[in-house]
Amino acid sequence: MREGNRTLVNVDGKTYPSIFKAAVEIGCNYSWLWCRLRAGQATIKGRRVTLARTENTQTRRNTMKKAMTITLTNCKGGTGKTSLSTFLAEQLLALGKKVLVVDLDPNCSFSEIYGYVLKDSNSKALMSGLKTEPYTVKTSAAGGALDLIPSDLNLGQLANIIDTQIKIQLKKQGFVERYDYIILDPPGTWNSQTRNAVFAADSVIVVGKCSPLDFEATRNYIAMLSECGIEADTTVVCNAYSAQRDPDKILDKYREAFGGLLLPAPVPEMTSLKRLAYDPEYRIRADIAEKLRAFVRAATLETEDAE
Ligand SMILES: Nc1ncnc2c1ncn2[C@@H]1O[C@H](COP(=O)(O)OP(=O)(O)O)[C@@H](O)[C@H]1O
Ligand SMILES: [Mg+2]
Repeated sequence: MREGNRTLVNVDGKTYPSIFKAAVEIGCNYSWLWCRLRAGQATIKGRRVTLARTENTQTRRNTMKKAMTITLTNCKGGTGKTSLSTFLAEQLLALGKKVLVVDLDPNCSFSEIYGYVLKDSNSKALMSGLKTEPYTVKTSAAGGALDLIPSDLNLGQLANIIDTQIKIQLKKQGFVERYDYIILDPPGTWNSQTRNAVFAADSVIVVGKCSPLDFEATRNYIAMLSECGIEADTTVVCNAYSAQRDPDKILDKYREAFGGLLLPAPVPEMTSLKRLAYDPEYRIRADIAEKLRAFVRAATLETEDAE
């Protein structure tokens, strides 16, 4: 569970932990429900819907003894899923956390970044239900470790994979007890790998760049996810934002469409994030890293800052 304030919603007197879950209960689209609630209209499909109090989720953190599983996803490629997953993993490593990344994209981008391609122990084996041992790709002075289950170029060719296989295997193979964080990096299409990544996550973060095409993809994806009734917390992050290069005011469109689901601070557009994608040793300038910390804090449970 993420730390922070969660908006509770009442539907016919029963409380739901988010607008998202209320939308699933009513059987309507999230963005639509958000707009109706904001406009103060409270009867939807004959159901009485009201915004209730907000609840602080900090207390859940203290009782949690297992890994938090995070999936950055969208139904479109090139939105920044792998870049932000890399940054997230590196920041958590610097904080001394034990992090497992499972690369579920047949394009193997994440595995490529760390030089782990064509490995026998990979996410294709994990999705087939076989015992899979992660590779430790990095450790930190703070005591953290970054472990990786690399992808396989033939991952997409698996047939008859149940959509909860990853969730089952993460638990069955003891990974949820072994790690502080598990980051799943799926492809940009709604296929079996992505469904596995979404259904295994405690926190689903939909990443869309600050562009008209990414905004539309994000809106459609959120609508589709709300129809699936997924269990996870769902948030949206607007990536690669630049005040100078947003003539169409796309950030405002994100704010309007996603309201409370949108992480308050967009991730800025920065060339150093591009660099990190092919050189994980590259040290992001302190002032730029600072801008990304708001994202790390919102995406994880961590309140302290990495070096
Ligand atoms: N915040 C950002 N600023 C600048 N470039 C970015 C940012 N986020 C991602 N990119 C660039 O966008 C491209 C696609 O990113 P990637 O993480 O591979 O997307 P995905 O995993 O969603 O397909 C890469 O070239 C990456 O460097
Ligand atoms: Mg990717």
